[in-house]
Amino acid sequence: MTKRRTVQTIRQMKGQKQIVTLTAYHAPMAELLDPHADILLVGDSLGMVLYGMPSTLPVTLEMMSLHGKAVTRASKEALVVVDMPFGSYQAGKEEAFKNAVALLQSTTAHAIKLEGGEVMKETIHFLTQRGIPVMGHIGLQPQSVHSYGGYAKRGKDKPAQKQFLRDAKALEEAGAFAMVIEAVDATLAKQLTRSVSIPTIGIGAGKNCDGQVLVTEDLIGLTASPPPFAKPLVNVRDLISQAAQDFAATTRNQA
Ligand code: KIV
Repeated sequence: MTKRRTVQTIRQMKGQKQIVTLTAYHAPMAELLDPHADILLVGDSLGMVLYGMPSTLPVTLEMMSLHGKAVTRASKEALVVVDMPFGSYQAGKEEAFKNAVALLQSTTAHAIKLEGGEVMKETIHFLTQRGIPVMGHIGLQPQSVHSYGGYAKRGKDKPAQKQFLRDAKALEEAGAFAMVIEAVDATLAKQLTRSVSIPTIGIGAGKNCDGQVLVTEDLIGLTASPPPFAKPLVNVRDLISQAAQDFAATTRNQA
């Protein structure tokens, strides 16, 4: 029997650039990805990718719980990490703890992820000290899209870059086992990766992180307009379209 990845095995992969992380929102996808991924991330990106929401902000704990349950049930080897949705952890550490416990209990996933650096240090410390494995998320934080005014790359000037270095350090000190770095320059991502002893997992952040994460629907060509850094390796949109067209033709020809 293959042993499941743990937060400890992920930590030990620091420096190897080999941590493979893919998003999964439902059981059949989780089953297919599981043998190939170190981490399956039940990302709150499901709001946009699956539900067609305009951002991740309307995603609820209930949605994360249902999708997290499906993914954990279908995976055997990967570490399953579930996103804490917007509003479920920002108000205070006690509320974050209560909601993280609810998510871990209902999904049986292994860790949670939440967005924010220095500002979330106390909350992350509170969680990790109480047995909850936390993955951080810095750089572009999609739950802050309205504060940014869009999804453009972050960390373009010196003060912002210095803040990201403080953010990365804060996550490490708070006991996070890893962190996502989203949409920053490759040079900054390299600097962030070198500045901490825990793994960094990049998305749109160049090659020099300790691992890479992609939204699976971008990778398989199901997203209509994937971000420029996510090159689809297959084209599932065309396959589905073709299958529907063939089925429609066969059905109508029988009539
Ligand atoms: O929600 C998500 O899928 C994520 C990844 C893009 C890192 O946070």
